[in-house]
Amino acid sequence: MSDNAMVRRDFLQTMGKVSFGTLMAGGLSMQTVNAREGQAQKAWTPVSDRKIRVGIVGYGVCRFGAAFGFQDHPNVEVVAVSDLFPDRRQGLMKACRCDKSYESLEVLIKDKSIEAVFVATDAPSHARHCIEVLKHGKHVMTAVPAAYGSIEDAEKLVETVQRTGLKYMMAETSCFRDDCYAMRQIYHAGGFGRIVYSEGEYYHYLAKPIGSYKNWRLGSPPLWYPTHSTAYYIGVTGKRFTCVSCVGFRGDFDAYKSGANQYNNPFTDEVALYQTSEGGSSRMLMCKSAHGMIIETGRVYGERGWMEGTTYHGVAKQLPDMTRPALPPGVPAGGHGGSHGQLSNEFITSILQDRLPMVNVYEALAMTVPGIVAHQSALKDGETLKIPQFDPPRA
Ligand SMILES: NC(=O)c1ccc[n+]([C@@H]2O[C@H](COP(=O)([O-])OP(=O)(O)OC[C@H]3O[C@@H](n4cnc5c(N)ncnc54)[C@H](O)[C@@H]3O)[C@@H](O)[C@H]2O)c1
Repeated sequence: MSDNAMVRRDFLQTMGKVSFGTLMAGGLSMQTVNAREGQAQKAWTPVSDRKIRVGIVGYGVCRFGAAFGFQDHPNVEVVAVSDLFPDRRQGLMKACRCDKSYESLEVLIKDKSIEAVFVATDAPSHARHCIEVLKHGKHVMTAVPAAYGSIEDAEKLVETVQRTGLKYMMAETSCFRDDCYAMRQIYHAGGFGRIVYSEGEYYHYLAKPIGSYKNWRLGSPPLWYPTHSTAYYIGVTGKRFTCVSCVGFRGDFDAYKSGANQYNNPFTDEVALYQTSEGGSSRMLMCKSAHGMIIETGRVYGERGWMEGTTYHGVAKQLPDMTRPALPPGVPAGGHGGSHGQLSNEFITSILQDRLPMVNVYEALAMTVPGIVAHQSALKDGETLKIPQFDPPRA
């Protein structure tokens, strides 16, 4: 690294912000800032020396149970794991360096020594499994989405979280990608103002379908899996979608032919336009048939600035620290843009600090439920539908 670059890096580390590339737009002084510049090497500071006793369930096609680094976190002891298939159980035990397993989630949650469970099972079971975990007095982190196609499940889930008072977190990976994380910091520091328009995109083209437990992925409604997209508005602002109109596309894949899937779903691709609670609009999509596209991304356009990727363009003179929290030594950043370690660390830290996790049940449902309603709209040729809201009870 050159001397100049080192000086600039040190300055950025000290200030916790970056600021360069000034230009004029419509008479206003705009700045262009890249959040990746000056990614300071933050040091991790422990908040406790307590170890949370964790159980991990699910080691399916994505091997997700072991992918979030719980087994490497200094504040975690992985007490036991589970999967319905014995070979997957064995694989999860090995990957988590854990010598205890149970034959199912339902048996694991009877272990009174376990304080928290990571649910990495099939999406249609998430809400039911999380409710069971909470009812057994344990905190829970779940893989996405929070509920699968069922508003009733969402209602039961929020009711159970409220009744038990335990921690619930959804592991939405986009929320901890570096761009979305930076957007959230800038939004809350006022760098965008109100968001006029935003976009969230999850393209996942597959020439052949991926396997899954009881074939839950086969022919599934695209926006029942909306959270990688909706994170780029809800996970940035904490605001809400209020109504939606959605268009479905009938791609040429066998799993979406009439009668070919358990959901009676004809759509390979869905593109939704939402109205937001701050008076803007948002286009969120999940597309499976756009050839060759596999990407999770998003953008926000506000009254004071806009952002795509990690580059901010706007009028804010001072920007907050946009770098993600430091991870404990030994915890890998992991997949999906280095979000996995951030998510497990946030969940564990929220338990240690007895605070709401970032993607708590209200944010999780605000990212999940609008996709369920969008699919209903697509089935009705784009009819505009209202979105039920799940917000905390007013004090
Ligand atoms: N970027 C992301 O956030 C991302 C990426 C990939 C997968 N996921 C999510 O991760 C989850 C896991 O994905 P996958 O592809 O491995 O799923 P999968 O369907 O292949 O596997 C699910 C596993 O859960 C196990 N299981 C189901 N019920 C159980 C029970 N009662 N007790 C114990 N085990 C049980 C099954 O035996 C199976 O091995 C999914 O919900 C998926 O949506 C998220």
